[in-house]
Amino acid sequence: MQKSRLFYQTRARRPVLDRAEGIYLWDINGKRYIDGSSGAMVSNIGHSNPRVLDAMRAQMDKSTFGYRLHFETQPAEDLANRVAELSPEGHEKVFFVSGGSEAVESAIKIARQYRYVTGDTKRHKLISRSPSYHGSTMGALSLTSYRPLTDPFTPLFVDMPKIPAPRCYLDRDDLSDVERGIKYAEMLRQKIIEEGPESVLAFVMEPIGGASTGALVAPDSYYRRIREICDEFDVLLIYDEVMTGVGRTGKFLACEHWDINPDIIATSKGFGAGYVPLGAMTARDELVETVLDAGAFQHGYTYAGNPIACTAGLAVIDEILERDLMGNTERMGLELTAGLKALQKQFPFIGDVRGKGLLLAFELVSDLETMEPLPKELNAHTRLVDIAYEKGLIIYSRRTRHGLEGDHFLVCPPMIITSEQVRDILTLLQQSLSEFAAEAKLPTESL
Ligand SMILES: Cc1ncc(COP(=O)(O)O)c(C=O)c1O
Repeated sequence: MQKSRLFYQTRARRPVLDRAEGIYLWDINGKRYIDGSSGAMVSNIGHSNPRVLDAMRAQMDKSTFGYRLHFETQPAEDLANRVAELSPEGHEKVFFVSGGSEAVESAIKIARQYRYVTGDTKRHKLISRSPSYHGSTMGALSLTSYRPLTDPFTPLFVDMPKIPAPRCYLDRDDLSDVERGIKYAEMLRQKIIEEGPESVLAFVMEPIGGASTGALVAPDSYYRRIREICDEFDVLLIYDEVMTGVGRTGKFLACEHWDINPDIIATSKGFGAGYVPLGAMTARDELVETVLDAGAFQHGYTYAGNPIACTAGLAVIDEILERDLMGNTERMGLELTAGLKALQKQFPFIGDVRGKGLLLAFELVSDLETMEPLPKELNAHTRLVDIAYEKGLIIYSRRTRHGLEGDHFLVCPPMIITSEQVRDILTLLQQSLSEFAAEAKLPTESL
């Protein structure tokens, strides 16, 4: 391997990427990989989509940058129109950014500035959930609960109050699903009262837990009750749809599954879909207008609304809508879920299969009854990923218990996937799990 001057998170090395098309990537040695996680749940419409590439090329021939203090650009206007049309009622204006952390920072800051300009300056606390991931910048980290990522930096930011993220599959109680959803939502009510309602600015949640929880979906009753509690205390509800947004769960935004209208929404990942760095923040009109009427939103990024990025984003959305990729996501999500559940029979150490649309995950455990994790030292979260990678399948893993132990794996292929390709993923996963089980001396059932 050639010496690398690159410096990412670890010393781990991977082969050099040569080209990519559809759900496949090839390294420079000609080996093919199935992109079973769309990168980091990003490449939602697959790689090298001709519509997106043609649109970007055409825009590049015209202009590549127009700074927002000097020009408006048509691609940014067109994309804002499209996003507003697809957003919940009352989200009339769109603020562009270049990534998920930036979208979350923008959400926090519009919430705070709205309270600031209306004289409600005491409200500054942001309640979020544990575990959760909201990004790597200091503001986003203050909402995040994932120990390896937060521990080194806690003295540098204000650690915001947290409530447990719904982990209903772990609860061993006699409650119904509806009751459990309410139980978890009531934790927000308690927390707001504990912190002092007059000091609470917003509640921030991923509608479906992303990397930190491994696609954990709350019971349906949770979502409505959370909205009611926020309304009761005039606390703003921020949905971090960075991972769930732009079709990944089978709807444009995950909030549509429960018919919730959040006050503020952050999106990114599948928006630029791996073609460009792109994200957006939308907020209820009243918030935006109030802040703008007071003078200015005191926040912004140099590359925001870049014409090439916006052109690509528009082509991504056109592709999703015209090819009914959200319908495909729903159908393929069901097929992939059924396949993962079938693997559970053969590999009893798969404790749970969960998710929505093509935001799916499975979790490995040592005891199905207690959901005790596998021994930490097995490092299943890296080992299984490496075995699958060797076989040409890319999946994405994290540690389930606050980043410290437990192993879950996100299987989130691009929304263009076919039934045959779903079967290919399942075959490679089955082979990878067999190899891992043999190596870790875990029991398997012969079918
Ligand atoms: C829910 C959520 N919010 C925010 C982010 C941060 O996005 P980015 O890495 O683009 O800054 C992520 C990234 O994984 C995410 O999953």
